[in-house]
Amino acid sequence: MSPFLLTRTLPEDATDAALRADVLLGLTRDPKTLPPKWFYDARGSELFEQITELPEYYPTRAEREILLGRAAEIAAAARPRTLVELGSGSSDKTRHLLDALPGLDTYVPVDVSESALTQAGQALVAERPGLRVHALIADFTARIELPDTPGPRLVAFLGGTIGNLLPAERAAFLAAVRALLSPGDALLLGTDLVKDEQVLVRAYDDAAGVTAAFNKNVLAVVNRELGADFDPEAFTHVALWDAGREWIEMRLRARTAQTVKIPALDLAVDFEAGEELRTEVSAKFREDGVRTELAAAGLELTHWWTDAEGRFALSLSVVP
Ligand code: SAH
Ligand code: AVI
Repeated sequence: MSPFLLTRTLPEDATDAALRADVLLGLTRDPKTLPPKWFYDARGSELFEQITELPEYYPTRAEREILLGRAAEIAAAARPRTLVELGSGSSDKTRHLLDALPGLDTYVPVDVSESALTQAGQALVAERPGLRVHALIADFTARIELPDTPGPRLVAFLGGTIGNLLPAERAAFLAAVRALLSPGDALLLGTDLVKDEQVLVRAYDDAAGVTAAFNKNVLAVVNRELGADFDPEAFTHVALWDAGREWIEMRLRARTAQTVKIPALDLAVDFEAGEELRTEVSAKFREDGVRTELAAAGLELTHWWTDAEGRFALSLSVVP
């Protein structure tokens, strides 16, 4: 069995410092916001995996359908020896891609969730003798230093996670991905598509309440890491469609007026009754927009595949 390598690209206290900075900035501005990357401690990663199995949450199933149908085409077009996956999580759907890439030398999953990387990486090396797995604990919105592995390189960013970045963050992110690619390399990008509002809102406000628990988990993370006293029960989960910006927003609405203490920041945060804290945007895309954003980053879209119902797209793009 090949060894499973796990590299932390930032010192552990960098995560702590980044959380402090994000919480301080986000909870002292109006309207209040928190970045979605803080959902994903071990519990948050587990809740996300439960979301992927909900009847209302179609993106995972739709993207799996595309990967199953198109893995051979993706393999033929990209012929990678290294597969880098940003925000890899459980690497579950990635297995369909790995099955179609017999010439692959190294898989490099990149994620902020150490628990997800460890579980997925250990399972993959056990399942696939000969595949090297070099996992990176890293923030994909920061500068990523990839290990020196053989090319061509295929960078995959699945699940529609690009939609969790704001437009300016998305542009900076795509430019950084472009900088990781050499001629002959490619980007495989998953994007959820604009569709009927009710279908979208239900996907983010499921009947079983799993997405609500995922949303509130960010409060548990701030409580544990910064000694805060958020009462998750004092907030309601909100999911709404912004038709102008074509994104879903998840928010936490204060049920009553309250003050939350955050001792690690020496901060007390006042919420008015009904005040909302934005915890995530999940942008939905159209083909033209994706092509334009890729082109702005110096990438040329060469393939566009959707599931049979046209709910989700996978695209392949290259350095022109
Ligand atoms: N790609 C998987 C998981 C999507 S969930 C799928 O398609 O099902 C989003 C993943 O991105 C989580 O595993 C989360 O920990 C990771 N993530 C979120 N923000 C991140 C960031 N800024 N840097 C690195 N990983 C991040
Ligand atoms: C990871 N990301 C693509 C998910 C999404 O659909 O935006 C996160 C999520 N938020 C609520 N449900 C799922």
